[in-house]
Amino acid sequence: MATTTSTRTESHSFGVAKGTSDIEIPRGETQSSLTFYSPPSDGSAPWNYVEQPPEGWPQRNYGEDSHEVTINDIRGREQEFDMNVNGFRTVSGVESKEKDFTDDDKIKGNYYPEVEQVLLDNVPGAKRVFIFDHTVRRSDPNAKRAPVTRAHIDQTTKSAIARVDYHMGEEAEELLKGRYRLINVWRPINGPVVSSPLAYADSRSVPDDDIVPVEHRYPHRTGETAGVKHTGNSQWYYWSGMKNDERIFLQCYDSQDGARTPHTAFKDPRTQPDWPGRESIEVRTLVFG
Ligand code: OGA
Ligand code: FE
Repeated sequence: MATTTSTRTESHSFGVAKGTSDIEIPRGETQSSLTFYSPPSDGSAPWNYVEQPPEGWPQRNYGEDSHEVTINDIRGREQEFDMNVNGFRTVSGVESKEKDFTDDDKIKGNYYPEVEQVLLDNVPGAKRVFIFDHTVRRSDPNAKRAPVTRAHIDQTTKSAIARVDYHMGEEAEELLKGRYRLINVWRPINGPVVSSPLAYADSRSVPDDDIVPVEHRYPHRTGETAGVKHTGNSQWYYWSGMKNDERIFLQCYDSQDGARTPHTAFKDPRTQPDWPGRESIEVRTLVFG
């Protein structure tokens, strides 16, 4: 989901920023308030603008519903999580040539091939990867994109099919007959993550009824993402102190088994004001096979 000024997380003052080596990284189960979806009060279909809305229009027409939830740490039991079942999985020990993540062309040249490889190596059945987008996030008031503090899923069935059509041209029809998945590959840039960690829900704990398609209005086209209602049964996880050589795969759509993970950044109550804000990159991919 796009981040706008109104969804920015609180930023810290970096006047006396500590290096993360001095920090005792928060680990284990924690509690935090997460923001869920609440429907537009007038009963209309939900939408949001990715960039500036037209003059006089709000950013979105739906509301928010905050609830305190328990967020469990998957560190030390990474092997228990399977993307086909839970909607997410981890990969450790991935080396990367790219260090800066400031130049889009360098990101495409250096980092995209690494993402393609890590998917081919770690997604059983994957035969082909098409990368269509990436987002760098920095918890800085001047950053273009900041962490997203709203539970969401990036794609729906409709937008997944539209992505395949949009990017794969003449091959789309054939590819849509096979298995296709939309997977985000997420990693920190300034790990270990000690503020605004990313939380993800076990796919099985969020029924389809709690997932609400939202019109996602870009300046030149309209896509669809999903908001997530709170009904009390969702099970949330994070990976404490996530490092730069670690990857979390967030499956947003799978045409075969259907696992998809709602996700959101959260404010960790253990984070101290002088700790560095989280910087990260997520790469959005189509995985075939
Ligand atoms: C994503 C995402 C939010 C964040 O990777 O799809 O929504 O705060 N990330 O990193
Ligand atoms: Fe997302």
